[in-house]
Amino acid sequence: MAGSGIKEAVRSKYGEAARKVAGGGTPDCCGVGQQGCDPVSGNLYDTAEKSILPAEALTASLGCGNPTALAKLQPGEIVLDLGSGGGIDVLLSARRVAPDGKAYGLDMTDEMLALARENQRKAGVENVEFLKGEIEDIPLPGNSVDVVISNCVINLSADKDRVLREAFRVLRPGGRFAVSDMVVRGTVPADIRRSVELWVGCVAGAMEESEYRSKLSAAGFAEIEIEPTRVYAVEDARQFLTAEGIDVDAVAPQVEGKFASAFIRARKPAGTAKG
Ligand SMILES: C[S@@+](CC[C@H](N)C(=O)[O-])C[C@H]1O[C@@H](n2cnc3c(N)ncnc32)[C@H](O)[C@@H]1O
Repeated sequence: MAGSGIKEAVRSKYGEAARKVAGGGTPDCCGVGQQGCDPVSGNLYDTAEKSILPAEALTASLGCGNPTALAKLQPGEIVLDLGSGGGIDVLLSARRVAPDGKAYGLDMTDEMLALARENQRKAGVENVEFLKGEIEDIPLPGNSVDVVISNCVINLSADKDRVLREAFRVLRPGGRFAVSDMVVRGTVPADIRRSVELWVGCVAGAMEESEYRSKLSAAGFAEIEIEPTRVYAVEDARQFLTAEGIDVDAVAPQVEGKFASAFIRARKPAGTAKG
């Protein structure tokens, strides 16, 4: 699928997810309907975090990690969430950087933005702004953000180099990239990779760890670290892969432990003048 086709498919899928949540339902979270999304999206937030969020923000949570908890946010910082969805990580970040800091959420899907703004109203959090736009073309000035977070979105982009260059541009020198995303670990045959990616709901594809590193480095980032936070077992995807016509036991060695949610950290070097 070409870049614009992928974007429209993503927009349509997440528009539908937001409409379901706004109507009191639950989204087909991993793009797999009845398959359920627990292995990927379940139990990412602790009770204290959940207690300060509106129910709809939790229901709309479609991430694969908890970047806010891992990003070591400090009061006064400016945070940007790429692909903010129903706003869960933006609202949590806003609390951590309050009272003088601010959290921006950026999303391209109107229904998600409406849901996020409604969740902000219900949470009564003021130091938040949801922006409409694309992560490949961030509508903020250069050198204006302390921390870029994101939760399971960069894998959806058909132009990941551009997303990483944009994240680098908006970060202040010394600023942090602190992102949860899906990664592939090592070599996996293309057809099996495609089926597992469908299972986790990634339309455009997760990057292999070394590819993520080299793209971050090419964008200008330093201090790159990729830490798996949840590694998926072939059993998690057995039902889905079987329905796809895949002999799960035969491919198990090529799938087991190869797909993971990871926390990806990097820094814009302090001396970088380029915005
Ligand atoms: C998997 S959901 C994750 C939402 C949120 N981060 C969370 O953890 O619940 C992906 C979100 O990213 C948005 N998105 C995907 N691709 C995007 C792009 N290229 N530009 C802006 N938003 C995008 C979708 O509209 C959707 O709200």
